[in-house]
Amino acid sequence: MSLQRLVVQNLRNLTSVDIQPSSDVNLIYGQNGSGKTSILEAIHVLSLGRSFRGPKIKALINERQPDMTVFGRVADVSGEIPLGVSRSRDGDSAFKAHGQLVSSLAELAALLPLQVINSDAFLLLEGSPSVRRQFLDWLVFHVEPSFFAAWKASQRCLKQRNSILRRDRIEGSELHVWERELIAISEQISQMRAKAFAAFSEVFHQLIDEFVMADGLTLSLYRGWDKDKAYPEVLVDTFERDSRLGYTGAGIHRADIRIRIKGHAAADVLSRGQQKLLVCAMKITQGVVFAKLTGRQCIYMVDDLPAELDEHHRQLLVDWLDRLNTQVFVTGVEQAALLAPWLNKPERDIKLFHVEHGKIIGQE
Ligand SMILES: Nc1ncnc2c1ncn2[C@@H]1O[C@H](COP(=O)(O)OP(=O)(O)O)[C@@H](O)[C@H]1O
Ligand SMILES: [Mg+2]
Repeated sequence: MSLQRLVVQNLRNLTSVDIQPSSDVNLIYGQNGSGKTSILEAIHVLSLGRSFRGPKIKALINERQPDMTVFGRVADVSGEIPLGVSRSRDGDSAFKAHGQLVSSLAELAALLPLQVINSDAFLLLEGSPSVRRQFLDWLVFHVEPSFFAAWKASQRCLKQRNSILRRDRIEGSELHVWERELIAISEQISQMRAKAFAAFSEVFHQLIDEFVMADGLTLSLYRGWDKDKAYPEVLVDTFERDSRLGYTGAGIHRADIRIRIKGHAAADVLSRGQQKLLVCAMKITQGVVFAKLTGRQCIYMVDDLPAELDEHHRQLLVDWLDRLNTQVFVTGVEQAALLAPWLNKPERDIKLFHVEHGKIIGQE
């Protein structure tokens, strides 16, 4: 799967950009503030309707314009798919695929699966459980067609249960209706997550065996409640606390991937460089498992590669990306440093884009 064309209008400093990326390797270079990250953001907007820098859409629209649009053409096993997103300052938005409006952003995300490696990626180790839960759910979403509907239903049940818990007088029969549904959906979601996690773990351990610090590293899935108890039992046990606090304390909304080294949190034990590589290994694993389970490829975007890793580790990441044989977009300030790790891979079709002041001033 690859992005064959990308047209961007009025996204940050990119007033008008139209490129035809390589299906292989795209290296985007230019000075700080030239617009490199904005190009990656444009691709992200096409997949998820928003930036990876946060949900604020207004910051994404060029300051002198009322709206922005991103258009792309994706080549997939099923053929070519045109995608389009437009968003305006006053809140209007339109998302299109195959020339038709799509009602749910999940539809877009399914058409353009992306993995981003940037400085925020390290939150995967240091951030709250929600970061790791979203990471796992990315995979579950892309491999289990029924996941998204189940996840939405679970959110609705939790919201209803919480609102009942906050009332002065709790109506037992009403509570039980929502709990019964919540229990059934939680079971479903937990099973889907456990299956995806098992596939993930297997590939991950093969990959990290390639570097030494894998010694004693374990990943485990916490489903969101005590492993020795069934969820109905947990809801009974925690009822008093939940009703006092007004929310559901245990459940699938608390799931996490625990990353440990000999019993300690990986973030506390590993050096910064090792943490970066561990995160990269997790992101690469996602792509491998995704390809294995769906027969499709996801696109990788690596923002400011030279700045994030030393030379040795840059080479290792590029070797992994190369083995995935998928479309990649990598940014950096210096052309030479960006190109160096790809020089020993003559079979890859490499395209270079030089960005300056929001314009592509050179392609080769
Ligand atoms: N809403 C906006 N309108 C116009 N320019 C913007 C807006 N938001 C950010 N910029 C500018 O866009 C430029 C490109 O940013 P970015 O893509 O992050 O650069 P790079 O990744 O090349 O360092 C920056 O100079 C920034 O000041
Ligand atoms: Mg940048």
